Amino acid sequence: MGVAVITGAASGMGLATTDLFLEKGWTVIALDVQRVPIADAPGLLYANVSVTDRAALDAALAELTGGKTIDAVVNVAGIYPPTTLENYTEELFRKIFDINVLGVINVTAACLPFMTEGSSIVNFASVDAFTVSRGQLIYGASKAAVVMLTKECALELADRKIRVNGIAPGWVDTPGNAATGRMEAAAASIPLGRVAQPREIAEWVWQLTGSGVAGFMTGETIVISGGDVLR
Ligand SMILES: NC(=O)c1ccc[n+]([C@@H]2O[C@H](COP(=O)([O-])OP(=O)(O)OC[C@H]3O[C@@H](n4cnc5c(N)ncnc54)[C@H](O)[C@@H]3O)[C@@H](O)[C@H]2O)c1
Repeated sequence: MGVAVITGAASGMGLATTDLFLEKGWTVIALDVQRVPIADAPGLLYANVSVTDRAALDAALAELTGGKTIDAVVNVAGIYPPTTLENYTEELFRKIFDINVLGVINVTAACLPFMTEGSSIVNFASVDAFTVSRGQLIYGASKAAVVMLTKECALELADRKIRVNGIAPGWVDTPGNAATGRMEAAAASIPLGRVAQPREIAEWVWQLTGSGVAGFMTGETIVISGGDVLR
């Protein structure tokens, strides 16, 4: 049983991952800009903090770790507003890169002083890092950056025996995704004929953070897309 820091813990895959780690008896330090909708869960600690705010992250972790070490960091927080060459703005560019890319760096760096040998980090990328989704000009680039950051951090932290891996989900049934209104059409085009449930992705986070099957794996980003990227 350990301590996990999970960002974006209030919704979708972050919430599913939080649920799973709590079920396994872990303490979860949930970091999000909205409240985690789990009432009175033992082991759940929450800070209302943005991943873009390094000073606030440092303060929250100093308080919530309470002298304990961190065994797993899961960088889930991310936004995916559509953008094209027609409608992008500099403000939107900065917002997407601040949350999706700088956020991963901030949280990782802020957690490091509390991490010891054998701990690990999982970053959320996307299939959009590898294949093109129409209208995701800036998002796709931000997630490609997460794939490379995962490799950079894996190398930087290998001496400390801290593993860093990524997950690149395809379509997942989350509130953020449902809001796009495109999920049903997407399911029809996925070879396995459906979108993923958040819990299926959370189970992979559990495997990657554990020392079992993933103990010799670092710097990799695994694609979980129901075959969506095969063609
Ligand atoms: N849903 C999908 O199909 C899908 C596919 C591929 C990749 N992803 C990626 O997976 C991750 C989770 O996606 P989801 O659909 O579960 O998300 P979601 O939209 O359901 O939830 C995202 C959470 O992140 C939080 N958040 C946003 N900005 C934040 C900030 N600045 N600081 C802290 N928390 C912040 C939100 O409050 C929310 O609770 C994201 O990084 C997303 O890009 C999602």
